[in-house]
Amino acid sequence: MKITVLSLFPEILRGFFESSIMAKAVERGLMSYELVDIRGYATDKHRKCDDEVFGGGAGMLMLPGPAGAALEAAGSGRRPDGSPGARTVFVTPSGRLFNQAYAAELAREEELVLFCGRYEGLDQRIIEKYVTDEISIGDYVLSSGEVAALVLVDAIYRLVPGVIKGESLAEESFSPMGEGGAGLLEYPQYTRPAEYATMRVPEVLTSGHHANIARWRLEASLAKTIAYRPELLAPAAGLPEEVRRLLRKLCAEGSSYEPDTEDPGRAD
Ligand code: ADE
Repeated sequence: MKITVLSLFPEILRGFFESSIMAKAVERGLMSYELVDIRGYATDKHRKCDDEVFGGGAGMLMLPGPAGAALEAAGSGRRPDGSPGARTVFVTPSGRLFNQAYAAELAREEELVLFCGRYEGLDQRIIEKYVTDEISIGDYVLSSGEVAALVLVDAIYRLVPGVIKGESLAEESFSPMGEGGAGLLEYPQYTRPAEYATMRVPEVLTSGHHANIARWRLEASLAKTIAYRPELLAPAAGLPEEVRRLLRKLCAEGSSYEPDTEDPGRAD
């Protein structure tokens, strides 16, 4: 997959692409990237990229000229033969809310262009001509699109086949059950020593009894999901009947997120 990120501050992004798992994915030929300075497409002598909003209002808007030229060069919009260009994301707090299913969808693209907003946003004509997806990473406002773009890139590229080991992906939050990202929050995990600061690891996890461990983890996942993200458990989430049954039991017990150390094999 190739990711092109257009920004007025590409240096904010460089460290991410040159480090850690992304650097390895690039080295292995699974990923490639390009960081484009939108200011490089400004034509006046001050390299101006923003102006006031027509109709009045606070703040400045990104100019269509440099933004459009940068997007055109990145392969967004229609190609000369009329076919659609690269899938192009405008990162904005007024976009569609990002989630794991959306990340999985974008991870299937061969090529992605991300446009980072600054100031009050981008001239609407550029959005209409070049942008296929307006995406927000959450219900809060960041001062720049770069940080949000990195959140998208990180969530997307790790789902590209080969970038991360399959087992690690299969077990994490937001994937264990159901298609396309519907799932439970991940259960608590522990490593050595079995006792730390007088706190012991739940017995069941050191018992070697795989069925009981699986059951404890499922209960802990459900309890945590009830406490932090109850909306994930709505009937529409399509949880398997076994999980629904456990959920009813936990609700009847008035569950709060306190994974106990009792062996759940004896709990029924
Ligand atoms: N830019 C500023 N805030 C943002 C958000 N919440 N999501 C995406 N882009 C943004």
